[in-house]
Formats: sequence, structure tokens, C-alpha cells
Amino acid sequence: MWLYLAVFVGLYYLLRWYRERQVVSHLRDKCVFITGCDSGFGNQLARQLDERGLQVLAACLTEKGAEQLRRQTSDRLETVTLDVTKTDSVAAAAQWVKERVGDRGLWGLVNNAGIALPVAPNEWLTKQDFVTILDVNLLGLIDVTLNLLPLVRKARGRVVNVSSVLGRITLFSGGYSISKYGVEAFSDSLRRELSYFGVKVAMIEPGFFKTAIANKDRIFKSFLDIWDRARPEVKQIYGENFVTSYKESIEQFDHKCTQDLSLVTNCIEHALTACHPRTRYSAGWDAKLFYLPVSYMPTFLADAILYWSSPRPAKAL
Ligand SMILES: NC(=O)c1ccc[n+]([C@@H]2O[C@H](COP(=O)([O-])OP(=O)(O)OC[C@H]3O[C@@H](n4cnc5c(N)ncnc54)[C@H](OP(=O)(O)O)[C@@H]3O)[C@@H](O)[C@H]2O)c1
Repeated sequence: MWLYLAVFVGLYYLLRWYRERQVVSHLRDKCVFITGCDSGFGNQLARQLDERGLQVLAACLTEKGAEQLRRQTSDRLETVTLDVTKTDSVAAAAQWVKERVGDRGLWGLVNNAGIALPVAPNEWLTKQDFVTILDVNLLGLIDVTLNLLPLVRKARGRVVNVSSVLGRITLFSGGYSISKYGVEAFSDSLRRELSYFGVKVAMIEPGFFKTAIANKDRIFKSFLDIWDRARPEVKQIYGENFVTSYKESIEQFDHKCTQDLSLVTNCIEHALTACHPRTRYSAGWDAKLFYLPVSYMPTFLADAILYWSSPRPAKAL
């Protein structure tokens, strides 16, 4: 019985491996538009796909970021400045893409731009703090997608949305996880809707990686700013020790972040270039072996594990 099971599982993985190695043809003719290429995954992906020979249309938030990227890449890579929260900027970038791709359409759209701050207990935050994150990570992503969809459909191409393992399990308060759960929901509906037109939609769900978004000094500074403006009642309930413990947990989190960004960019590259891309890519061992399994656990068990590593308010019962 166990032998049959092992053979069955082995065959399944062999078949999957064979299916997933098949690569689409004529990669040099394919255009890919990536948001958030100033730094991190977007920047590395732009360089990686450029080296692979695809025609990369890289959107950067700042002209400085765009200039740096152009200096590191071939003449085929072109850049545009894009703030995903500004509808005018999104419309202008979509027009810019349209002029470049022409009748071919857009093979790949990678929605990568994102922010993570502010992060703090919900009670310390304002509605605007939530709006700030949702505007970039969710509404910006939706706006870019809606503007470029006709071009992707024309090419029967791919939409790759950079979500997070925090779109599967909530570890921190604030808008970040909410935005990523939203990205998952949007991607699920988009995948079904676009399957009728030969467009494939993939989600990338990285664990924690060392990029600007996960910079411990920036995270702690933002946390302190919110603490400083918090109501006296909140300060009394949580206490100064909470701030100290939070700082320690950020330090520990920083040590756990993975350095090798290619674990993520290789997943995105696969989603763009494989004949049979996956629907979800889990990137990083922390996501695969810890956070995803915890997300499937009964709530009481997941909560117990997460309480264990979280700071406690001074007036906790
Ligand atoms: N690093 C991680 O641990 C991790 C884990 C899971 C998921 N992610 C996701 O991965 C994606 C990329 O993040 P990253 O880790 O590579 O961090 P990153 O280096 O900070 O990259 C984020 C990029 O988005 C850009 N950006 C910020 N606001 C924007 C806006 N309004 N319009 C357009 N672009 C904007 C940033 O530009 P500036 O550099 O000019 O600010 C930057 O280039 C994000 O969606 C993030 O949520 C990251």
C-alpha cells in the first residue's frame, strides 16, 4: 500500500516537473511591464528578464530609480515613471505601453509596486493609515490592471500579482495584510474571468526578504512616530515595555529575512515564461515550511503560536 502511494506521489511530481519545464517560444518578441522597479524584487526582475532577452518596460516611482536601472541594463529596456496611486499617471503609463507594444499586445503585466508602512496595533492607527497602504498595494494594482487588460488580452498573456504570505495569514495589524488578502481575492476573480480569453493569472506569495520594504530601521521609526502621536489612554494600556519588546521582535524578524531575492524573481520569471504557470507561487522556506502550514491550522492553534512570539500590552488581562 505504502509502495503504491510512494509511486503515485513520485509520478505526480515527475509529471508536474516535466509539464512545468516547458517554455513559451519567441521570448525575445514578448513585452513585459513591471511596476515598482526602483528597488527590491521589481528591480532585480527587470534586470533578470532583460538578460533573458525579453523586452522589459520598467515602471519606476522616481526618475532617479529609472536612470539607475537604465544604466545597469541593455538598450532594449525602457523605463517610465509611474505612481500607481495617481490615475493620471496610470493612464499615461498605459498609453506609453500601448505605443510600444503595438499589435503584439502586452505579454506580461507584473504588479509588484508595494509599501508596508505604517504598521502598529490597529487601535493606534487612523483610517488614513489604512488608506495609504490600500491605495498602493490594492487599488493601485487594480487600476494598473484595468488600464492594461485590453493589451494583455490581445497577447493572450499573463498577469502576475505580487501578493505575500501575509495574504494567506495575518501576522501584523494595520493595512498590509488586508491589502494582500485583497490582492488574492482580486487575482482569483481575474483568473477565472480571463481564462475565457487565454490569459493566465498568477500570484506570488513570498515570505520575508531583505528589501527596502522590510528595512528594520524604517519599520521601527514609523512605529515610534505612531506611538508618539497615540492617545494617552493607549500609551497607558500598552506601556513603554511594549515598544521595547516590539523593537526586539523587529530585530529578530530582520535576522530571519532571506537575502536571496532570486527565490522570488525566479517564480515571477516562471509565471511569465512557462507554458503551464502555477496559480500560486510560494517563495522562501519560511513561507513554505512555517507560515503556510500555520495558515491551514485551526484558528486556536495558529493564534497560540502567534501570541507566543508577540509583544504583550502592559494592561493585558
Ligand atoms: N520584501 C518582502 O519581505 C516581501 C514579502 C512579501 C511580499 N512583498 C511584496 O513585494 C513587492 C515588492 O516589494 P520589495 O520587497 O521589492 O520592496 P521595495 O524594494 O520597497 O520595492 C517596492 C517598490 O514599489 C515602489 N513603490 C512604492 N510606492 C509606489 C507607488 N505609489 N507607485 C509606484 N511604485 C511604488 C517602490 O519605489 P521606491 O523604492 O522609490 O519607494 C519600490 O520600487 C511589494 O508588493 C511587497 O508587498 C515583499
